[in-house]
Amino acid sequence: MTPLIDNFGRTHDNLRISVTDRCNIRCFYCMPEENVKFEAREHVLTFEEIERFARVAAGLGVRKLRITGGEPLVRKGLATLIEKLIAVPGIEDLALTTNGVLLAAQAQELYDAGLRRINIHLDTLDRQRFLKITRRDQLDKVLEGIEACRRIGYGPIKINAVAVRNLVEPDIVPLALFGRERGIEIRYIEFMPLDAQGLWERPRVLTADDMIAMLEREIGPLEEIPDRDPRAPATDYRFKDGIGRVGFIASVSRPFCLNCNRIRLTADGHVRYCLFAIEETDVRSLLRGGASDDAIAGAIRACVRGKWIGHEINSTRFVPPPRPMYAIGG
Ligand code: 5AD
Ligand code: SF4
Repeated sequence: MTPLIDNFGRTHDNLRISVTDRCNIRCFYCMPEENVKFEAREHVLTFEEIERFARVAAGLGVRKLRITGGEPLVRKGLATLIEKLIAVPGIEDLALTTNGVLLAAQAQELYDAGLRRINIHLDTLDRQRFLKITRRDQLDKVLEGIEACRRIGYGPIKINAVAVRNLVEPDIVPLALFGRERGIEIRYIEFMPLDAQGLWERPRVLTADDMIAMLEREIGPLEEIPDRDPRAPATDYRFKDGIGRVGFIASVSRPFCLNCNRIRLTADGHVRYCLFAIEETDVRSLLRGGASDDAIAGAIRACVRGKWIGHEINSTRFVPPPRPMYAIGG
């Protein structure tokens, strides 16, 4: 078995699986405020189909999985899927990205299914700004979810915060302090052109450099963590006083495409070689059309072979992908 290597020598061992495009909040950098166009339910892969895909992908060298959405916890019975995926031969690691709204209710069940690593999406600790960003008044629920995970013993717990200029500047430092007090890494993600309404503009990206300057000014010096995995998208820093760390996913100001090891499976059964890819590979029709595992493996390989060198957000040629974030999975 040859691993999934693309034309630029990158090995792909990391698969992100979106289990639904539905969501219970409406973050403006992802979804429109109303009339969201969700995929028809019959187009969404079943747990059996997802598990089969993961098995084939593991046979091609995939070792790490991440469950995404939309919001994955709105998918009924998610714990059952997690249990199955952890048991797939070859899979060494499984993590989940959630907005946290339903987490307090499900954290124990997911933990019992074997989940340990969790990323919770939270941009602000301010109720008004939370409402403005997500168009839902659910901050308390998210905070309860984080506490539930700490109580149960999840680790590492990370918080994803999307960094939008002229909006979340007042949140950068309070989030870092919140994380420092709780041993939670805050990962600031530069706003990317993936929103459903085409609101993204370069000047609206709050960059890693800007945030590092804010954190150093208000909290104290940071140092880059040495010997980290070069293929991880985040650049991680620790505070020099030894308390806590922060990470930056600087897709816009410091693109990391050359280290990319990720492929994505959308909820409706398409494989994508990049968040920003225009084309994608339909595997739902293979999964439902009686195709062999080899044929599915061949489709995954072909997708990876077609992978481009990287996104072109910073060039005038950039074209946003046809799917917004919630339909890709992040
Ligand atoms: N830019 C950057 N990050 C985004 N996310 C959602 N939309 C965007 C965007 N336009 C993040 C959320 C979520 C993760 C999957 O992607 O924080 O946690
Ligand atoms: Fe939902 Fe995540 Fe999109 Fe926010 S970013 S609307 S939580 S899918």
